[in-house]
Amino acid sequence: MDKLIISGNAKLKGSIDVKGSKNSALPLLVSSLLTDKDLILSNLPDLEDINNMQKLLKEYGVSIKNRKNEITLNGKNIFNRVADYDIVRKMRASILILGPLLSKFGEAKISLPGGCAIGTRPIDIHLLGLKQLGAKFQIENGFVIGKVNKHLIGSNVNLPFPSVGATENILMASVLAQGKTKIINAAKEPEIIDLANSLNSMGAKISGAGSKVILIEGVKSLKKTNYQILSDRIVAGTFIIAAVMINKNFKVKKINPHHLDSLIVALEKMGANLKVKKTSVEISPTEKLKGINIKTAPYPGFPTDLQAQIMALMSIVDGDSEIKETIFENRFMHVPELNRLGADIKVKKETAYIKGNRKFKGAPVMASDLRASVSLVLAALCANGKTVINRVYHLDRGYEKIEKTLGKLGPKIKREKI
Ligand code: EPZ
Repeated sequence: MDKLIISGNAKLKGSIDVKGSKNSALPLLVSSLLTDKDLILSNLPDLEDINNMQKLLKEYGVSIKNRKNEITLNGKNIFNRVADYDIVRKMRASILILGPLLSKFGEAKISLPGGCAIGTRPIDIHLLGLKQLGAKFQIENGFVIGKVNKHLIGSNVNLPFPSVGATENILMASVLAQGKTKIINAAKEPEIIDLANSLNSMGAKISGAGSKVILIEGVKSLKKTNYQILSDRIVAGTFIIAAVMINKNFKVKKINPHHLDSLIVALEKMGANLKVKKTSVEISPTEKLKGINIKTAPYPGFPTDLQAQIMALMSIVDGDSEIKETIFENRFMHVPELNRLGADIKVKKETAYIKGNRKFKGAPVMASDLRASVSLVLAALCANGKTVINRVYHLDRGYEKIEKTLGKLGPKIKREKI
């Protein structure tokens, strides 16, 4: 297990080019199961979850060739097998192979993903949608076993909640189903649009991605494509918040700022000085920042994946703030750790009450989940003194070699093996 040692009162200078999105790359990699032609993806981020997904797909017989910043996958010789608990446990996105396997083989057996630090993470909406396409499921000894007689049949699928993963699973399953599918109350995240655009470039017939209703007309097969992955809006948002906290000139580049509208509105309401360009956001120092109240919500609402990061910022601005977390039932694991660094945050049910005007002081802290860990990094950069963050593997799942990425921009941050 590694730890990070971060010196406080960091400077941040220059700019960062944001890489490809983890949450877009994961379903795109899985979509290789739907075709026996080459799927060539560029702008793939180098992250633990991405490496684990490639390992899982190789176990199914997907051939994978990695070249610099480009990957070629081919699902011609895939064979069905059981996705074992060990990989699925570490990476919840493994559940996305269920839809493609059912549409390809008519059967699939996957271990239930189980919960994680931020919540129980059930898959009932995934199963509900796939059932409406004709699949039948049994849950046995911690496995979900799906069966389809002959093939999936297009149908109307009404989601009780706009689940991102369930929308992706049903979208991929319906692409080769017989007839038309309509996903109602679909997730509208940019990553859904990216998946639909990639599938359409392979010959799928999908319309309405990014809106509440997605229409899919099943096709017989998919062809070869070469597709560039969307940039990571959560990594971009994380660096924008970091620059606002450190209050220095900084530029976050190679992004679609429109995907961060809710964050930009919130930061401007706090008094941040942002210049939004076509493919970047420029941050300039500002006199004073003040507290605000926000609520996380499905896209285009404020993203739950930036909740921990903005909470660190809220601790050092002038005045108090509140955050209501409406997506996950236990996504305040960073609160006790931020309090160890000098924050003063109380949680009552799904709302966090954040006192402003705090000064972070370096201390040893523990990372718990991916975005909680990065909020500790942000606080550490602004703290007086040194901070040691343990269990850094959480960070590596979503942030490429953060000590190198940040180290190039000014902060003193080093990784040690323990
Ligand atoms: C995706 O997770 C992202 N992960 C998450 O990012 C992100 O926080 C989440 O969407 C919300 O935006 C990937 O894309 C790999 P959901 P997902 O299904 O698909 C409940 C990160 O940090 N739910 O939209 O799992 C669920 O428990 C990660 O990069 C059901 O009840 O999210 C949660 O409370 C963390 N039943 C809510 O819906 C289901 O069948 C949102 O889940 C499915 C979900």
